[in-house]
Amino acid sequence: MARPTEAIIDRQALRDNLALVQTLAADGKTMPMVKANAYGHGAIEVSKALSDVAPAFGVACIEEALVLRDVGIKQPILLLEGTFSADEVSIAAENNFWLMVENDKQKNALLRSSLKQPINIWLGVDTGMHRLGFNSNSINKHYRDLSSSNNVANNIVLASHFSCADNIGNPHTRRQIDYFQQCLSTLDNSFGRKTDWSLANSAAVLAWPETHGSWQRPGYMIYGNSPFNEPQHQAAKLTPAMTFQSAVISIREIDAGESVGYTANWTAKRRSTIATITAGYGDGYPRQAPNGTPVLINGHRCPLVGRVSMDMITIDVTDLPAISIGDHAILWGPSLSVNDIAARCNTIGYELITQLSQRVPRRYIN
Ligand SMILES: Cc1ncc(COP(=O)(O)O)c(C=O)c1O
Repeated sequence: MARPTEAIIDRQALRDNLALVQTLAADGKTMPMVKANAYGHGAIEVSKALSDVAPAFGVACIEEALVLRDVGIKQPILLLEGTFSADEVSIAAENNFWLMVENDKQKNALLRSSLKQPINIWLGVDTGMHRLGFNSNSINKHYRDLSSSNNVANNIVLASHFSCADNIGNPHTRRQIDYFQQCLSTLDNSFGRKTDWSLANSAAVLAWPETHGSWQRPGYMIYGNSPFNEPQHQAAKLTPAMTFQSAVISIREIDAGESVGYTANWTAKRRSTIATITAGYGDGYPRQAPNGTPVLINGHRCPLVGRVSMDMITIDVTDLPAISIGDHAILWGPSLSVNDIAARCNTIGYELITQLSQRVPRRYIN
């Protein structure tokens, strides 16, 4: 008998969520983001589950891409941050990894390499996030330098990233789109061709149709979660792929006035039944979760009470009709949104799923 804490990952949910992207942005291609261990879901298994339907994958760095090649993933893999050192260029070329090029150092490393086969390039333009990418007024020059190199394959993709697309009313996204479109039409006019382009993350796939380009780059929505704080009609069609679950391992009655857990930060106002669940911050359940954070015990919402420990949490189950050791607990999943848990912890669901620790076995279904 093993510790009952695990994450169930529903492969069919991943495929359905990807199909939603493809329905919404039917003219382009969908590149699921599988960086950071596929947002905690397991990059190898997620990539395998999507390999029949995804034409390419996106990761942060070459180390993540090599893991996928080693297990036989055949698709091109885009390195979203490009290369960190010149020696990565030839490894990328040999492995059919695509490179984001977003600064002079990366560009020069690429141009100076002697490659046996050309590499597919995504040219990053900074449209207002001010994190990565070239300034738009230098894009024509970079495009020309790259497209005239034998190291670079045809069809350079112009790409940028949004900073606020999850905030539907935010005018910053409009400005980024306008800026990008200007840059794109300047390129098209200068080089007399239609340039491939990519803008859309999950929020843009769902709520900004004008950002749907040659390639979409959704991450969070592939895992079935909404990037928005408020309800959104397309996001409502997503199915969370991860269920983080555990079980009751101890039950006790305490008197009113008794406190629970480290720092004794919760005190019972009535005689209470406390159930201990074997999952804690060592598993990725956030330590900042306050008293009252919901946990589903046998399908009923019950409040967390007391501080989250490394390996356990404590739940007030006084109002449940019955409770036994071994009873089922869901920490987040399709019936308890990870976004709701995250909001109570002053973070975002992205962080919670990505930080699910290695100790939690992932069990793949469907
Ligand atoms: C460049 C880039 N594209 C796409 C994504 C996917 O974003 P999301 O998970 O919000 O869809 C990310 C995520 O951080 C990113 O950095």
